[in-house]
Amino acid sequence: MTSSDYLSGLFSLEGRTAIVTGGSSGIGRAIASALAGAGARVVVVARREAELVATVDELTGAGRTAAWVAADLGSRAGARAAAEVAAGVFGEPDILVNSAGVNIRPPLGELGDDDWDATMAINLEAPHVLGRRFGPGMAERGFGRIIHISSQQAHRAFVQSGAYGVSKGALESLARSQAEAWSPLGVTVNTLVPGFVMTPLNERLSSDPERVAALAARTMVGRNGLADDFAGAAVFLASAASAYVTGQALFVDGGFSVH
Ligand SMILES: NC(=O)c1ccc[n+]([C@@H]2O[C@H](COP(=O)([O-])OP(=O)(O)OC[C@H]3O[C@@H](n4cnc5c(N)ncnc54)[C@H](OP(=O)(O)O)[C@@H]3O)[C@@H](O)[C@H]2O)c1
Repeated sequence: MTSSDYLSGLFSLEGRTAIVTGGSSGIGRAIASALAGAGARVVVVARREAELVATVDELTGAGRTAAWVAADLGSRAGARAAAEVAAGVFGEPDILVNSAGVNIRPPLGELGDDDWDATMAINLEAPHVLGRRFGPGMAERGFGRIIHISSQQAHRAFVQSGAYGVSKGALESLARSQAEAWSPLGVTVNTLVPGFVMTPLNERLSSDPERVAALAARTMVGRNGLADDFAGAAVFLASAASAYVTGQALFVDGGFSVH
């Protein structure tokens, strides 16, 4: 066996179909690109059409198979409708990545019901609704991979974590519950835990050079995260190689959480 056949047996996603929410920006976009690069057909789901089109153009221009669905995951009905449209593109998914997220963080004493509800709807309820829709089918077919993107704020308070940290803590609990439900039938469910990653999500912080440098100094690697840092971990968790890894939270944070 050649080394490339060996690596393909572990990591190739040829023949797999993936749905990546938030796949038009930041971490989700890098993961969509990684999964497509490893051979998966990828459907990216988000609201803004221009970013979706740009993402899919880039992927198809590189010879990958990709499509987009414009949808708002900010309500259960929206998430359910998005799931049906996304599954209609290349068929039922083998891989679901929940990267769509919002970071609305007024101080907790000023946090309104609307902020709380919007945060929970996108960061927590959409991953549940999509998992509920796709998990049982994955289990019936005997293979599935669900990957959530949580945050170091699931584990510690950080710059007014407010509802955001709560939603991410619950998301990691959701991953464990989903793992318990479907892992006996070949579906693994895991969470990638970013530290501080330079994406549009945290434009406010990342446009302040002093704070960016201070955060980089809190890592062990000596720099802040980049979206592409998630490519390898995502392919691993989406592939055959991770069949015995489930219910876990994998920190991709340059050592931020252990420094
Ligand atoms: N960047 C960091 O430092 C960091 C740290 C910890 C955790 N995370 C987590 O990592 C994930 C990705 O974040 P990112 O930094 O890559 O952010 P990003 O660049 O802002 O991307 C967020 C994505 O979610 C989509 N989205 C937001 N609201 C949506 C909605 N209602 N319906 C459908 N799609 C929606 C956005 O597209 P549209 O706006 O077009 O809908 C976009 O594609 C998030 O879950 C975030 O909480 C990020």
